Amino acid sequence: MEPHSSQRIIISLILSMTLLPTPGSSSGPCTFPAIFNFGDSNSDTGGLSAAFGQAPAPNGETFFHTQAGRYSDGRLIIDFIAESFGLPHLSAYLDSVGSNFSHGANFATAGSTIRRQNTTIFQGGASPISLDVQLVQFSDFRRRSQILNKQGIFDKLLPKEDYFSKALYTFDIGQNDLTAGYKLNLTMEQVKAYVPDVLHQYSDAVKRVYDLGGRTFWIHNTAPAGCLPYVLDRFLTSAAQLDRYGCGSPFNDVARYFNKRLKDVVIQLRKQLPLANITYVDVYSVKYTLITQAKKLGFMLPLRACCGHGGKYNFNNALRCGGKITVNGKEVLIANSCRNPSVRVNWDGIHFTEAANKWIFEQIANGSFSNPPIPLEMACQRMDQ
Ligand SMILES: *[C@@H]1O[C@H](CO)[C@@H](O)[C@H](O)[C@H]1NC(C)=O
Ligand SMILES: *[C@@H]1O[C@H](CO)[C@@H](O)[C@H](O)[C@H]1NC(C)=O
Ligand SMILES: *[C@@H]1O[C@H](CO)[C@@H](O)[C@H](O)[C@H]1NC(C)=O
Ligand SMILES: *[C@@H]1O[C@H](CO)[C@@H](O)[C@H](O)[C@H]1NC(C)=O
Ligand SMILES: *[C@@H]1O[C@H](CO)[C@@H](O)[C@H](O)[C@H]1NC(C)=O
Repeated sequence: MEPHSSQRIIISLILSMTLLPTPGSSSGPCTFPAIFNFGDSNSDTGGLSAAFGQAPAPNGETFFHTQAGRYSDGRLIIDFIAESFGLPHLSAYLDSVGSNFSHGANFATAGSTIRRQNTTIFQGGASPISLDVQLVQFSDFRRRSQILNKQGIFDKLLPKEDYFSKALYTFDIGQNDLTAGYKLNLTMEQVKAYVPDVLHQYSDAVKRVYDLGGRTFWIHNTAPAGCLPYVLDRFLTSAAQLDRYGCGSPFNDVARYFNKRLKDVVIQLRKQLPLANITYVDVYSVKYTLITQAKKLGFMLPLRACCGHGGKYNFNNALRCGGKITVNGKEVLIANSCRNPSVRVNWDGIHFTEAANKWIFEQIANGSFSNPPIPLEMACQRMDQ
């Protein structure tokens, strides 16, 4: 053996001891056979639509060429995550038509909160499918799919038993817990004051998934909602509250407050759940950069909804994207899409365009915004810091 190659072996041994995941885990990219997602409209692929009616056209027009249960012109970050592993887009758990859960299920619904809310969706409140309800659904899905799988009838539609421990568990929720407080006219201090309770319940949900066998977690923090038309249009009262990019500072302050504490919760969870690999992803920073540097990044009008109707932000809460009015007895779509959603950041005043979602996915996939800083495809491995 050449001295040269033995040196190389020693060097690679040292490298593998210092750079690679701790022993016990297999190195190399993770092969997640399934994805289970929990969240709100940022990752809803058809849950709210199945229960309360489709997200209206022109939602879905760019990629799906029809309504697709998503609040966007096309794909969401969760769709790009699934695609990156060669997995099909996630079916919504609540969707009884054409669903295929063989590689995962999506429990997110638009308007979902972590905490149960007291205002119903019919009063402009949150989705009743709060995170605890999503966990009830997941638990039942897991239990019953394992029974049905043994009967062999549904094996092409349900995950295999071992997928539950090997799956990627993704979370993107919290934004609506904060805006729920704004809708109740609470002060920023009052909203901040309930953040610990929200995060306590968030933490319980992750623990519950762990107890049910989940091991790999990918947790998005909450967006700079102060840069979104629906917050700017509805809640902002003074120009002095805008930052130099036109975003509402108080709302972004609260989001950052939530995120800082969410990160602490994740650090605690790593201690409490020794077999879990939990990645915290700073989606806030990626979205804020996209909105504030839009032009440099090939996008335009980041504070204006592409699909909407009227006002400074092309957003009218009473006539959201897909909104129609009746003229001479005929329904006319007046909250329609802009001409070119592919250069726009904001889709409907609340959600991002497919182009924006793709850009955001590309930024977060390689781990640049993650704690620990490992790529999505390595998320099943614990990196000692
Ligand atoms: C809902 O109302 C109950 C009873 O008043 C209260 O304890 C709880 O905090 C409220 N929940 C939220 C999210 O405001
Ligand atoms: C469900 O999707 C998987 C993966 O795409 C596919 O292999 C399977 O045949 C599908 N099941 C049915 C019943 O179509
Ligand atoms: C919040 O304040 C607005 C404006 O004063 C008022 O119209 C609305 O009814 C208030 N909402 C609640 C839930 O108190
Ligand atoms: C991660 O990906 C983004 C987008 O492709 C790229 O700009 C960035 O430099 C990458 N970061 C690292 C650390 O590879
Ligand atoms: C998470 O990391 C630990 C420690 O490196 C490893 O033993 C375990 O297999 C990993 N979990 C998964 C699901 O790969």
